[in-house]
Amino acid sequence: MPDRKPRATARAGEEPAPDSFFRDLVWSLRNGVLAVERDGTVAVMNRVAYQILGLQPRPSDIGRPFTEVLKEQQEVCRIVSAGFELSHLPNRAELRLKSTGKVIGYTLSQVRDRRGQVTGATLFFKDLTRVEQLEERERLRDRLAALGEMAAAIAHEVKNPLAGIEVMAGLLKRQLADSADAQSILGDIIKEAKMANAIVVEVLDFVRPIRLQVERVSVADAIRDALSLSEAHVTRGDVRVDVDCPDHLPLIQGDTHQLRQIFTNLLTNAYEALGAQGQVRIHASAINEEGPAGGEPQGPMVQVDVSDNGPGIPLEVVDRIFSPFFTTKPQGSGLGLAIVRKIVDAHDGRIDVGLADGGGTRFRVTLPVTGNHLLFGLDPAAAVPDRARTAKRASRR
Ligand SMILES: Nc1ncnc2c1ncn2[C@@H]1O[C@H](COP(=O)(O)OP(=O)(O)OP(=O)(O)O)[C@@H](O)[C@H]1O
Ligand SMILES: [Mg+2]
Repeated sequence: MPDRKPRATARAGEEPAPDSFFRDLVWSLRNGVLAVERDGTVAVMNRVAYQILGLQPRPSDIGRPFTEVLKEQQEVCRIVSAGFELSHLPNRAELRLKSTGKVIGYTLSQVRDRRGQVTGATLFFKDLTRVEQLEERERLRDRLAALGEMAAAIAHEVKNPLAGIEVMAGLLKRQLADSADAQSILGDIIKEAKMANAIVVEVLDFVRPIRLQVERVSVADAIRDALSLSEAHVTRGDVRVDVDCPDHLPLIQGDTHQLRQIFTNLLTNAYEALGAQGQVRIHASAINEEGPAGGEPQGPMVQVDVSDNGPGIPLEVVDRIFSPFFTTKPQGSGLGLAIVRKIVDAHDGRIDVGLADGGGTRFRVTLPVTGNHLLFGLDPAAAVPDRARTAKRASRR
């Protein structure tokens, strides 16, 4: 900020305090601030503004035309220019920045001198990306809760007739022991009924509220267990698995059993995508998330990437892979990733999917060392199955 008048609070005889207090104040604000003078030069741009706009702070930016400083942020330039033209200025408006993908909430104001002449424009803004993600998560939870109730009701109704079919087919099988044809058909009926029943059990488990048994757990141990568990679900074949887990990884407050389930499901999917040929890489690291610009720090986290060099996930389906029952596999129930997401949510963590280096899929699970699930109790909408998956897979083989 350019130096202006000395601070009015300086006492007589004292060295007048420089303008540094106001400079520090603006620089330290937790909102982004960008002020532009009438001639189009940048008058003020604070730390959070640089952070949100994805720019490196440079003192030389002050005094330069804002269109040059913000040449990658054309949409911000347009808004600031409007500050000199519009009579109704946007208040609490939102915008997605193309350059960083961040969503910002902003208010545009004019700076007027004592005669009422417009001498500048100011943009106050905040990073709303995390708020957006939380809202999306809320919406998803609501959807899942409604879907879960319906699925539970249907599953409950279907369970008994299915058990009846299985028992009666078994009886018939014994009575028609001499007919090879009947044996084969009844064998198929029993197999199908068992599979349908396993899916029903899985659905019921899925909608059951989660009960986390929280303790201090090692994510590295959960990964190790998941490696052997996933091999019991699907043939790993010639898939090479590289695990890179540093020794100093902090323990996290979590449920070992559920954490194991996260990595088992991710590994199972990776093996299935690879079809017994390829490579899986698990990379765990401790990170300290700063949080969104201007927001609260997120604190220490453990981040685990599970990447494969398989075919990847087509763009047109990537938005749906976490939805329950979405599957592209003939034998899939589509609950694997929905369960993973529920467990991650219950731990107050995050899961993202992206491209792995060199192609394939990368799932990134980020878990807080101490999550809000401990501070605010459990999410009643979250549910977690486990046993059923093993049962279903066993029955498929
Ligand atoms: N590593 C991966 N590579 C490519 N596609 C994947 C990968 N992981 C998941 N997918 C896609 O996401 C879909 C949903 O996965 P999810 O685990 O929820 O269900 P599923 O594996 O199909 O069935 P289930 O896990 O219930 O047996 C999969 O059908 C697949 O299309
Ligand atoms: Mg799966």
